[in-house]
Amino acid sequence: MSVTILVGGQWGDEGKGKVIDLLADTVDMVIRSQGGNNAGHTVVTGGKEHRFHLIPSGILYPQTTCIIGHGVVVDPKAFLQELDELQNGGIPAENLVISERAHMVMPYHPVLDQLGEEMRGDDRLGTTWRGIGPAYEDKVRRIGFRIGDLQKPAFLEKKLRFVLRLKNESLTRLYGADPFNEREILDEYLGYAERIDPYIRDIYPLIQDALNANRRILLEGAQGVMLDIDLGTYPYVTSSSPTAGGACTGSGIPPSRITRTVGVFKAYTTRVGYGPFPTELTDPLGDQLREVGAEYGTTTGRARRVGWFDAAVSRYAVATNGIDAMVLTKVDVLDEFHTLKICTGYMSKGEYWDHPMANISHLKHVEPIYEEFPGWMSPTRECRRYEDLPQACRAYIERIGELCGASVNVVSVGPDREHTLVRTPLLD
Ligand code: GDP
Ligand code: IMO
Ligand code: MG
Repeated sequence: MSVTILVGGQWGDEGKGKVIDLLADTVDMVIRSQGGNNAGHTVVTGGKEHRFHLIPSGILYPQTTCIIGHGVVVDPKAFLQELDELQNGGIPAENLVISERAHMVMPYHPVLDQLGEEMRGDDRLGTTWRGIGPAYEDKVRRIGFRIGDLQKPAFLEKKLRFVLRLKNESLTRLYGADPFNEREILDEYLGYAERIDPYIRDIYPLIQDALNANRRILLEGAQGVMLDIDLGTYPYVTSSSPTAGGACTGSGIPPSRITRTVGVFKAYTTRVGYGPFPTELTDPLGDQLREVGAEYGTTTGRARRVGWFDAAVSRYAVATNGIDAMVLTKVDVLDEFHTLKICTGYMSKGEYWDHPMANISHLKHVEPIYEEFPGWMSPTRECRRYEDLPQACRAYIERIGELCGASVNVVSVGPDREHTLVRTPLLD
């Protein structure tokens, strides 16, 4: 048996989709445990690109059971759109399951997300406007709707009457926006119910059976550690727990059953949306990195902010998640940079910090301490073994492992499966 958690070690978009795809056909079950359609995971297989938002990237393999766990917030409309796209592309997705406990994104959530952002003005977070924050708010406030509620129309109707009073009050009085109509929401969601019904399950026995039968399970993370509601750069975070701990609560798998935690890191750093980013490059070098790395969001198309690899952030991610194997992606993007820098820690008000501090106005103004490395100035995309990489490239990678306190077991030099150099296999 093995239960592997895969987390993003930075601010998301580390290349998790590619790594999940690499592992998915060797496991029996893939579970998504948090986030929603704010995620965008790109998988390239045989030159064909697939983009996933809600559905686990393991869906490409019919023998792998793919579960949307109860820690996820599911927008039924977005879910069905993604399902249609997959099915029209010849992927039947019969191996898909949604936890009846997963909460739903309701039609008022994206509207409240956008209005809330507008009201924040200059302090806005730069959310994806997918309603993720408002959906988690309602979950915690105990006025959320769960996927299983789609099977209970009378309950849905009664509860919606109450919840909509609260929502419409905020929409009209606070934001001066139009109210939502109860009948319209009911008709829309009960319309989705029929199509979603076959996928809804109590995942508890399914997961327990898999654990007891010693199946291989992969917990697929979305977002990244620095976007975690507790550990990240609050309030510039998402509203879920994209950490190893969150993977356990979001799936119902106990920490004692976890075999390994894999962290995916980009060979440099990117971030979408606002908030502190100590190693950010806002100069022509940054523009070069963004262009070479094609750093534009999978979900919103926004230009990603880019910067040097931050070992203070990544070391924190390794330590707080118990990451025992690192995957370093997009190494090829650095092929043509004369000099590279890695941030090893920060100076803040005369004090040295080896990890990001909680106070984000201090984090915004830290002075990164850099180590400089000579670039390798040669293409790595065609390398197929770690030993084929230029010496300067290996030195850069090994220093990252050393600074973060975990070994870099896999190196990625391109988006496709074949562009993957395995030093030590991620799964036994
Ligand atoms: P995720 O959200 O962590 O799954 O990452 P995204 O899919 O949002 O962003 C990563 C992007 O980088 C995708 O377009 C991938 O196809 C691409 N990618 C992944 N690994 C590599 C790599 O090693 N080199 C290059 N050049 N692109 C990569
Ligand atoms: P994947 O899974 C990168 C960011 C948003 C914003 C903040 C809050 O592809 O790595 P939200 O809509 O979640 O309330 O927005 O979080 N964000 C991501 N950034 N990759 C993601 O997912 C993200 N999901 C959310 O840009 O800054
Ligand atoms: Mg992404």
